[in-house]
Amino acid sequence: MDPELHALRNAAWRRLMTMAALPDARRITPLFAADPQRAARFSARLNDLRLDFSKTGIDQDTLGVLIGLARAAGLEDFRARLFAGVAVNTTEGRAAMHMALRAPDDVELNATLPGGIDAASALARAERARMRDFTWAVHDGTLRGATGATFDTVLNIGIGGSDLGPRMVVRALTMAGGARLAVHFLSNVDGHAFAALARNLNPERTLVLVASKTFTTAETMMNARAARDWLAGALGNAAVAQHFVALSTNAKAVAAFGIVAEKTFGFRDWVGGRYSLWSAIGLSIALAAGWESFQALLDGAWAMDCHFCDAALEENLPVLLALVGIWHVDALGCGSHCVLAYDERLGLLPAFLQQLEMESNGKSVMLDGSPVDQPTCPVVFGVPGTDAQHSFMQLVHQGTSVVPVDFILAATPDHDRQDAHRALAANAFAQAEALLRGRTAEEAKGGMLQAGMTQGEADRLAPHRAFSGERPSVSILFHRLDAFSLGRLIALYEHKVAVQGCIWGINSFDQWGVELGKELAGALVPALTPGADPGAHDSSTTALIRAFRELRGEA
Ligand code: F6P
Repeated sequence: MDPELHALRNAAWRRLMTMAALPDARRITPLFAADPQRAARFSARLNDLRLDFSKTGIDQDTLGVLIGLARAAGLEDFRARLFAGVAVNTTEGRAAMHMALRAPDDVELNATLPGGIDAASALARAERARMRDFTWAVHDGTLRGATGATFDTVLNIGIGGSDLGPRMVVRALTMAGGARLAVHFLSNVDGHAFAALARNLNPERTLVLVASKTFTTAETMMNARAARDWLAGALGNAAVAQHFVALSTNAKAVAAFGIVAEKTFGFRDWVGGRYSLWSAIGLSIALAAGWESFQALLDGAWAMDCHFCDAALEENLPVLLALVGIWHVDALGCGSHCVLAYDERLGLLPAFLQQLEMESNGKSVMLDGSPVDQPTCPVVFGVPGTDAQHSFMQLVHQGTSVVPVDFILAATPDHDRQDAHRALAANAFAQAEALLRGRTAEEAKGGMLQAGMTQGEADRLAPHRAFSGERPSVSILFHRLDAFSLGRLIALYEHKVAVQGCIWGINSFDQWGVELGKELAGALVPALTPGADPGAHDSSTTALIRAFRELRGEA
């Protein structure tokens, strides 16, 4: 990093830490008391999408310092390089150009960015047209299985980014009805998963998508072989060509597996696994929800791309969401982050965000290999509201750690029980309000006395029934959950992650941390076979290998 920029960045971090050390840095309610316009001032919008971060300890000064930090970290330059197709993934020498997959067909070519978004989107366009034609052919019955039966079921075999994104989106877009085909997802190498699926699948009417960027991932390849055996066992070897589709960058390995070129959909290495639902990896989405929905998903993400690219940092939703996270993690020391979508259809959003955020930014070294000087990604977790309220929200309200929450809600449901939706929304707003406001011991006591409790009992229970309040949250509210708004929401989080990576000075686009376990698992497989030498391990691992074999009667 340029020494001048380095000094600026360090000074910005120091300013932030000074603000965090102020006695009132964790208090939020006084900010509301001091500014009747706070909700409006600390909200940003993109059309119907509203990001309200007023229920955080950020005030005008803090925001100024956070924006200054983003500038000092070179965010504007980073954003330009990202969109220009510069190899921002420096450990793998790759660009991160998933935005090119969503660029519309008629996007104006920009000669100032050769090799950038425009050139990349031209490459993506051709594959997108093939995916569209394939989707239509499956839906209209032109494309059929080996026995002449039409396809009514899709089995997507993939893991990580080749599973979580499509799985989350398919659920979000089809739960309210309208699925064109049933889609099942197989990710875990645990044989129970495939056995349970295979029991209910009809091979004659099942299209199998093997989704793997590398086409080498051990779990996916093992499951793909099991599915190939299952299908060939039922319909014969020749049926594989009609029933198997590959979604991958590795055409050679796909061909070696026996999947034909017409049923192979590719993408480029500038699409990271966790950013790949927009590519061929998203074929299950198009098959389940229809091509128009897949296109609308891309359009929604592109709307967020354009906003992220063009809007000033002060009004930029991904930037603001990222800065709120930086405030919580680095200034206030929050090590976890809760995502509560008050929407059953978004039930898999936290699992998707776990990979997006934690695989991208769960890093300890900066771009130059030196140790990071600040904590990076928090632990992300969540389930749909209101279920969360009956499990872990106790800790979020009264536990010893402060856990910032993202509340996500669509104002209009896709069912006609408006009373249920109002109850859902009331719960979302109430949780955020309770976290902010809290309840003093005196208030708790007053309530108990009013309800007829004795003074002694009220005194005893008051500490247990008091809430500290001053617990931060952001609220993300939009009109309706559909393909467009979902694409926009996912891209909001994708860019948030990139912004935080830039500010932390890390590479958000590699994932070396997943390698060691993979290597050791590969080496351990032979050790688990009967009579094999367990190999050299720590004594705990050796004992576990022995116990496993003993329990199986294979010692
Ligand atoms: O193990 C992690 C990972 O590399 C993810 O980043 C990726 O999404 C997943 O594995 C699956 O990889 P592939 O699509 O190559 O099978």
